[in-house]
Amino acid sequence: MKVRNRAASPELPAGVKKMTDSQEEVEGAMTPLQLYERLNAQGEQVRCLKTAKAEKAEIDVAVQLLLKLKTDYKHLTGQDYKAGCPPPENVVNQDNGAATDGIDEEDNVDPWNVSTSNAKGVDYDKLIVRFGSSKIETELVDRIEKVTGQKPHRFLRRGIFFSHRDMHQVLDAYEKNKSFYLYTGRGPSSEAMHVGHLIPFIFTKWLQDVFDIPLVIQLTDDEKYLWKDLAIEECHRFAVENAKDIIACGFDVNKTFIFSDFDYMGSSPEFYRNVVKIQKHVTYNQVKGIFGFKDSDCIGKISFPAIQAAPSFSNSFPQIFGGRKDVQCLIPCAIDQDPYFRMTRDVAPRIGYPKPALLHSSFFPALQGAQTKMSASDANSSIFLTDTPKQIKNKINKHAFSGGKDTIEEHRKFGGNPDVDVSFMYLTFFLDDDEQLEKIKQDYSSGALLTGELKKILIETLQPMIAQHQERRKQVTEETVKQFMTPRPLNFKL
Ligand code: TYM
Repeated sequence: MKVRNRAASPELPAGVKKMTDSQEEVEGAMTPLQLYERLNAQGEQVRCLKTAKAEKAEIDVAVQLLLKLKTDYKHLTGQDYKAGCPPPENVVNQDNGAATDGIDEEDNVDPWNVSTSNAKGVDYDKLIVRFGSSKIETELVDRIEKVTGQKPHRFLRRGIFFSHRDMHQVLDAYEKNKSFYLYTGRGPSSEAMHVGHLIPFIFTKWLQDVFDIPLVIQLTDDEKYLWKDLAIEECHRFAVENAKDIIACGFDVNKTFIFSDFDYMGSSPEFYRNVVKIQKHVTYNQVKGIFGFKDSDCIGKISFPAIQAAPSFSNSFPQIFGGRKDVQCLIPCAIDQDPYFRMTRDVAPRIGYPKPALLHSSFFPALQGAQTKMSASDANSSIFLTDTPKQIKNKINKHAFSGGKDTIEEHRKFGGNPDVDVSFMYLTFFLDDDEQLEKIKQDYSSGALLTGELKKILIETLQPMIAQHQERRKQVTEETVKQFMTPRPLNFKL
């Protein structure tokens, strides 16, 4: 059940302003007093639900939200929430770190960090409640299959894309011949991308093919300049290099526009106008609440979220959509990027634009285990798209966390645990054959398949996949990059 669905819930107590959907999406942006009032209202709601003997599931959702708000309050004020004791006026955020969007003490998810103490990885069901998004249920997957007439991608079949915002609305419109466009992106922090970065791009390519729609890809070289110790020229060079890897995923040049912020921002007045409109409608307090910015952060960081938000609005691309501001946008990304788009969805109706819809993926884990995502800033955690077959083999054999037992005898007797085994997790992302994957799972769990054998299957899956990627990348010429990165009309029907 969606936390935001209040229709069946008792009214809020008198005097407490009911929040709109969009306000709830930026709960993290409230002042301590607003959050205190929100907590009072949520406490009252839980009491009403219990008194009214509401369904257990509904009460559970309300209680979870109450707990989450208490955690937020502690995070914001450094104090525990106490009914009847409003926060002092001058209370400040006690935490100097990023607003982690932590679900509970064990899970941290934000655009810069992902970590959990759970070997199975982040608890995505809790994350859905925490972020106020909706689970991708089987019903939605079936609907996508029906609308497109295509077998759902394995990322949908296996729940790797697990959460969404407004996808049903997108499909409702699509069924009435109202099309949409895709927007995704990459922060070019280094020359080489890793296998985890491929996840949203592989899926976006599938979406582009099955829906036959245009796509814009933002390369935030400006973001990386602001956040990393890199020169502008380096960030721009990385953007062009990363564009080659993205193009190698197979995007249709007639339907895809890839842009570097450094290049496009200066050449498109419409894009820049949207950036400034967004900047005018988001306060410093809001971005501080959402992203955890500190007083010592440079102002470039503070205003950057507006730049990642702007491509969600179709009139940022007049060469593609003419002057139209009403074309619906769908953003596929891993859920770490959601804070940007909670902010975007909050702003959209206030500046007269439709809210972008989202499809969120889970994280491709680090080699060392699902406690963190694969990240370019830790080379040992990653398999890069530039790795040789030998490097891939060595990294997997040496670093991939195993759910197997210590000795062969024990493993044969008790079996391995695929839920924490990184090699098995990687196969769920890349082995397309459902039956083969299920057999591997059974054999590993029963002990018939040893860790070394499982790793061998993974190595033999990844080596050709990455070699083929490298081959396709070699075919991407400077001229091809230029074609993709030139602002121009795209070929599609809306
Ligand atoms: P960046 O470069 O950190 O990541 C690019 C895309 O890859 C996803 N991602 C992952 N997905 C699965 N497993 C992982 N281990 C993993 N690591 C990264 C990210 O969620 C992202 O979708 N600020 C953004 C760039 C950006 C953007 C966007 C991303 C600009 N506009 C719109 C998505 C949608 C960034 O630095 O992404």
